[in-house]
Amino acid sequence: MGIDVPLVNAPMGGAAGGALAAAVSRAGGLGMIGMGSSATASQLTAELAHVADLGRPFGIGLVHWVMSERPELFEVALDARPALLSVSFGDDWAWVSRAHDARVRVVTQVATVDAARRAVDAGVDVLVARGLEGGGHGEPRVGTLPLLCEVLDAVDVPVLAGGGIASARGLAAVLAAGASAAWLGTVFTTCTEALTPPEARSAVLAADGDSTMTTRAFDIEQGYHWPPTIPERVLRDSSREPTRVNAGQGVGMVVDTRPVAEVIAQLNDGAGELLRRWNH
Ligand SMILES: Cc1cc2nc3c(=O)[nH]c(=O)nc-3n(C[C@H](O)[C@H](O)[C@H](O)COP(=O)(O)O)c2cc1C
Repeated sequence: MGIDVPLVNAPMGGAAGGALAAAVSRAGGLGMIGMGSSATASQLTAELAHVADLGRPFGIGLVHWVMSERPELFEVALDARPALLSVSFGDDWAWVSRAHDARVRVVTQVATVDAARRAVDAGVDVLVARGLEGGGHGEPRVGTLPLLCEVLDAVDVPVLAGGGIASARGLAAVLAAGASAAWLGTVFTTCTEALTPPEARSAVLAADGDSTMTTRAFDIEQGYHWPPTIPERVLRDSSREPTRVNAGQGVGMVVDTRPVAEVIAQLNDGAGELLRRWNH
């Protein structure tokens, strides 16, 4: 992929716009522009302006049911020639060959080893083993580490690890296990370059790792067509009710607002140190 540090920002609707993606790619990782439940092609076009003259690889992430309802999102994404196109949370794979015809490599998030095998059989180039600890939407089936280890043993394509990784320790753990890179969401939501609104930032910064839950309440309320098996992990309030703020179980390690470059340097250098220690 031509990246220098083994970090990919998860495509997060409402948080990972073009500015965040550009900053991640400039810092040596792979920046992904995320388009969520309410995404439109014109929003994607606007966010793509941030990576137009980047001179570094970048990616785009779509949600399968959203792309099915608004197919122009897929067309705009392919026209942008991303180094990696992510389409997650669907079971129909017709989009894979269309992306390959356009010479675009594709990735999808999987929650079980069976789903990993199905995705590889469908021609997906890269997988994200996305554990139940992860923030935002995802199928809460298996924890990140056991899922990653099982998927790595089951498939031959590169596997990234996502869900609950928010520190150098988590990054070192998944790299040591054999992941090609980490797929990080929550840790980037409070970065200077993120689109996250101020109240959500404050909630993430104040939360600890025990303050998340999964819910479908807001998707049902909004009439979004998420499959029933795919809730979102959000922060809960003091009455243990869900809030609208998406966050994973690594949220307790997210304690300040900094530029992406600083966060990436700390994660990458820290993981390098830990892995060298383990090597001796
Ligand atoms: C604020 C937020 C928004 C998200 N939006 C999307 C999205 O639009 N599309 C998507 O594929 N995944 C989305 N996700 C899930 C991420 O792709 C990823 O699975 C998750 O962030 C990884 O776990 P972590 O948050 O613990 O790092 C979102 C996650 C968060 C935290």
